[in-house]
Amino acid sequence: MQRGKGMKFVGDSRVPDKESRNKIPKDYSEYPGRTEAFWPNFLLKEWLVGAVFLIGFLCLVAAHPSPLEQQADPNNASYIPLPDWYFLFLYELLKYKYAAAQYVVIGTVIIPGLGFGALLLAPFLDVGPERKPSKRPITVGLMLLGVAATIWLTYESAAHVNWEERAKYSVANVPDVEIDEDSPGYQVYSQNCMSCHGDSLQGNPGMAPSLVGIPYKAEQIKDIAKNGIGTMPANQFQGSEEELNQLAEFIVSINEQASGSGEGGEGKSEDGGSSH
Ligand code: HEC
Repeated sequence: MQRGKGMKFVGDSRVPDKESRNKIPKDYSEYPGRTEAFWPNFLLKEWLVGAVFLIGFLCLVAAHPSPLEQQADPNNASYIPLPDWYFLFLYELLKYKYAAAQYVVIGTVIIPGLGFGALLLAPFLDVGPERKPSKRPITVGLMLLGVAATIWLTYESAAHVNWEERAKYSVANVPDVEIDEDSPGYQVYSQNCMSCHGDSLQGNPGMAPSLVGIPYKAEQIKDIAKNGIGTMPANQFQGSEEELNQLAEFIVSINEQASGSGEGGEGKSEDGGSSH
């Protein structure tokens, strides 16, 4: 039996079918080589490509979990939000003069609108019967231009991000510690150190480093609290000797907790947690 015999060719959806209206469609086998059975040939191919892509993607996701950042903190004014990688190209667009400030509508609505609108309307705009990319130069050219622009903008944006600095926001770099906010040490901490080092010792990017994962002993912390270190000014601590002890013990206990929890903090103690 001839391949496809008995099936009806119902037409290529992209070709306006003016002639054969009201006519009985020709048998599928009248178009050898020009078309193929939807089921199972075409569907099987589609499904195979889909499955390969899906499995590859799953492996990638399992190997590199999404780089989540910490919980949003409205008090942290130094935080610069950055969209995820797949939106970086739109973000980069807004850095160009004619897509920003008073022209921001161009960058936010008009250019993306044209791009996505063209994608939506492509089946209606590009109605030629040709399937070969080389015979559809305008459509293929525009598409390649769009892809190239997207890749270039993404690259430009990523190249100007200080990823080392951003790693500080990452949840992966924050050791899991539980802070007893009722402990006397935390009370002293909140009065003297919290404004710079954060309410859970997490630090403030651009302001002060995290105090979780630091290598210091209680004596050294007391010394730093009184005399400062590096760019941290002296005399940050105001209070009694007993409070100073409580403060140092509190910070040390948090750090013991952090180093006990495994990987956390190891990378940090090496570079001394310097803030820049
Ligand atoms: C005015 C902001 C400010 C306050 C308040 C402050 N610090 Fe700091 N602290 C800093 C800065 C900035 C650094 C980073 C210094 C450097 O590395 O040059 C720092 C560093 C540190 C370090 C060393 C961290 C490391 O990774 O090397 C310790 C320990 C520390 N501070 C403890 C304290 C304690 C305890 C208090 C409260 C008594 C406190 N700080 C209050 C700004 C502050």
